[in-house]
Amino acid sequence: MKVNIFCVTFLIFVFARNVPLGSAITCYQCEEVTGRHCELNVKQVLTQNCTGSFVCAKYIWKENNITTIHRRCAQHTICEEERVALKPNATLIHCSTCNTTLCNSAPAVISHSLMFITTAFITISLLSLV
Ligand SMILES: *[C@@H]1O[C@H](CO)[C@@H](O)[C@H](O)[C@H]1NC(C)=O
Ligand SMILES: *[C@@H]1O[C@H](CO)[C@@H](O)[C@H](O)[C@H]1NC(C)=O
Ligand SMILES: *[C@@H]1O[C@H](CO)[C@@H](O)[C@H](O)[C@H]1NC(C)=O
Ligand SMILES: *[C@@H]1O[C@H](CO)[C@@H](O)[C@H](O)[C@H]1NC(C)=O
Repeated sequence: MKVNIFCVTFLIFVFARNVPLGSAITCYQCEEVTGRHCELNVKQVLTQNCTGSFVCAKYIWKENNITTIHRRCAQHTICEEERVALKPNATLIHCSTCNTTLCNSAPAVISHSLMFITTAFITISLLSLV
């Protein structure tokens, strides 16, 4: 019984996380200095439908003291490309990709291990109700 509940919960999470894979996804799209909608109020910015196997990306550049945040569809290698981009006086502060719908909203991407802990926590909560 306990094992079954855990399996079901776990599968729901795995499934929910992986549904958009293989099909085109939608990402937030904006490019703005930090402190405005693109960073703080992402629900008010544009979305775009990605083509093919593109993923959602979020990256932050600091250039001559100006910090700019970017969110968009991109190839999954975007972070390597940005890291080696030749930009004088600029530093890449953050770059992450994810591949579920509108996943480039949060400051950081939820990791698999955090997802696992969440699953375990919910399972334990469910078990305590039984
Ligand atoms: C993305 O695709 C959906 C479904 O096809 C459509 O309703 C929506 O308008 C599209 N969004 C953009 C920004 O093109
Ligand atoms: C960058 O910003 C800091 C703090 O606002 C300021 O002290 C510094 O002079 C700025 N540097 C440049 C190159 O603008
Ligand atoms: C880089 O920073 C230096 C010193 O602040 C400035 O003189 C120069 O114009 C900057 N270069 C670019 C490409 O912004
Ligand atoms: C989606 O993300 C997962 C985990 O980061 C990765 O293993 C997988 O290759 C990605 N899929 C695509 C289509 O980029």
